[in-house]
Amino acid sequence: MVYECIGPDPDAFEEAVARFRAEGGKGLNVTLPFKERAYALADRHSGRAQAAGAANTLDFQAGDIYADNTDGVGLVRDLQRNLACDLQGCSVLLLGAGGAARGVVEPLLAAGAARLVVANRTPSRAESLLGELRQSGAIARDRMNRCLACGLDGIPRDSYDFVINATSGSLSGEVPSLPEGVFGPRTLAYDMVYGKGCTAFMAFARQKGAARAVDGLGMLVEQAAESFHLWRGVYPDTAPVLQLLRAELG
Ligand code: ATR
Repeated sequence: MVYECIGPDPDAFEEAVARFRAEGGKGLNVTLPFKERAYALADRHSGRAQAAGAANTLDFQAGDIYADNTDGVGLVRDLQRNLACDLQGCSVLLLGAGGAARGVVEPLLAAGAARLVVANRTPSRAESLLGELRQSGAIARDRMNRCLACGLDGIPRDSYDFVINATSGSLSGEVPSLPEGVFGPRTLAYDMVYGKGCTAFMAFARQKGAARAVDGLGMLVEQAAESFHLWRGVYPDTAPVLQLLRAELG
């Protein structure tokens, strides 16, 4: 097996996929900024790719292009397995309304979230996100009824079981401004970004009283494991991988 990185020219993503496939490639992981284009290229899509409107995994083994999205399940697995969290009946505050947020809405609801507040700096984007998901029919209506869209200053003043940061500002250390009280003594703050040590959002959450704050390295590993399962039919043991990457990050 060979698994390598390809960095296609932004104008030539589709050509790069076609070339890789013609050379015998069996599948691809796709990352930013190509996930929507990967989705558009596919002949068939999983339900979770449809809900996300984006694909991070392509599989060519059935003779066509099959698109899946394992980001959301990666997050849910990290929460459930690595961090031992119970999602049944939980409340979630999801920050951001871009692709990263969109991909995790359906898996969080499917895992049992009873309340999901999608809050974004630009409130209309949060509303559009939920509106599009409602219209697409990719998520059952009763599940969509558990969701609320708002701006950052319209976040219902409650403490949440999970506060998940899916904003891209996190990459440059910017923390969304949040009302007091969203982090409580039961709150797990989750930053989808990862790096050496603590992210700015993690530090902020701890300072505001969150019980725990973690980064997104586990999500990265778990989404990769789910992709591997799709291609090979085998579910890899993720714990040693996570341990190794954590040690490498320092
Ligand atoms: P991605 O696909 O990685 O989610 P995106 O579609 O560009 O990227 O979306 C980025 C998200 O991060 C948006 O929700 C953006 O908020 P806006 O819609 O208001 O632009 C959010 N974001 C980026 N920087 C932010 C910051 N400093 N504070 C709050 N939200 C931020």
